[in-house]
Amino acid sequence: MKAVSTTTLIEALQWRYATKKFDPNRRIPQDQWAALEEAMVLAPSSFGLQPWRFVLVETPEIRAQLPALSWGQTQSVDCSHYVVFAVRKGLTVADVDRYVDRIAEVRGATRESLEGYRSFMLGSHKAASEQGRLDDWSSRQVYIALGQAMAAAALLGIDTCPLEGIEPAKYDSLLGLEQEGYSALCGLAFGYRAEDDKYAQAPKVRFARTDVIKHV
Ligand SMILES: Cc1cc2nc3c(=O)[nH]c(=O)nc-3n(C[C@H](O)[C@H](O)[C@H](O)COP(=O)(O)O)c2cc1C
Repeated sequence: MKAVSTTTLIEALQWRYATKKFDPNRRIPQDQWAALEEAMVLAPSSFGLQPWRFVLVETPEIRAQLPALSWGQTQSVDCSHYVVFAVRKGLTVADVDRYVDRIAEVRGATRESLEGYRSFMLGSHKAASEQGRLDDWSSRQVYIALGQAMAAAALLGIDTCPLEGIEPAKYDSLLGLEQEGYSALCGLAFGYRAEDDKYAQAPKVRFARTDVIKHV
C-alpha cells in the first residue's frame, strides 16, 4: 500500500463539499466508478455484517421521479451516478448465518470453527432486537459506508452530495426496496460540480479542532 501524503488527504477533504449543482453533461469514467463501487463494498461494519444495500439508480424514468421525492432537490437527476443507501430492516438470524457462510467460503474455515463467533454475534443481535434498536444499529453501519464513499470520491476528484432530505417510504416503493426487506436512508449523488455552484467557494464551517477533539 502506498500511503497518500497528508497534503493530498487534507486537500481532498477541504475540496469536498456538499455539491448543490452538478454539471449534467459530465459522466464519471467507468474505471473510476468501479473503484467507487469497490469503496462501498469495502466499508467496515459492526462484526462485518454489512446490513446494507447500495442501490444504483440508472433507469432515466426512475431517476426523473426522484426530485419530487427529495424535497425538490435536483442533484439526483443532474449528477452522474446516484446511489441510494438502504438499510436491511429487521436483520435476522438467517442474515447472520449468511455472513458466517461467507466467512467460511472466503477464509476456507469450517462452519464449526466459526460457531463461537456466530454465538457472539447472535448475542448482540438478540440484545438489540429485544431493546428495539436493531434497525438503529444497522442504520449506523450504513452511514459508515456513506462517509467512506464520500471520502473515496474526494480523493479521486469526484464530487458528491449526500441527501437525507428524501421521503424514505416513497423511495422504498419506487425502488422496490420494501418487499426485499430494505429501506432507504440517504441518497448520494456523485459527479462533477457545475462551474457556477456558488457553494463551492463558501468557506467550511467547522468548530475549532480544540473544541471537537478532547485529549484525556
Ligand atoms: C447524512 C447527511 C445528510 C445530508 N443531507 C443533505 C441534503 O438532503 N441536501 C443537501 O443539500 N445537503 C445535505 N447534506 C450536506 C450537509 O448539509 C453538509 O455536509 C454540511 O453542511 C457540511 O458542509 P460540507 O459537506 O459542504 O462541508 C447532508 C449531509 C449528511 C452527512
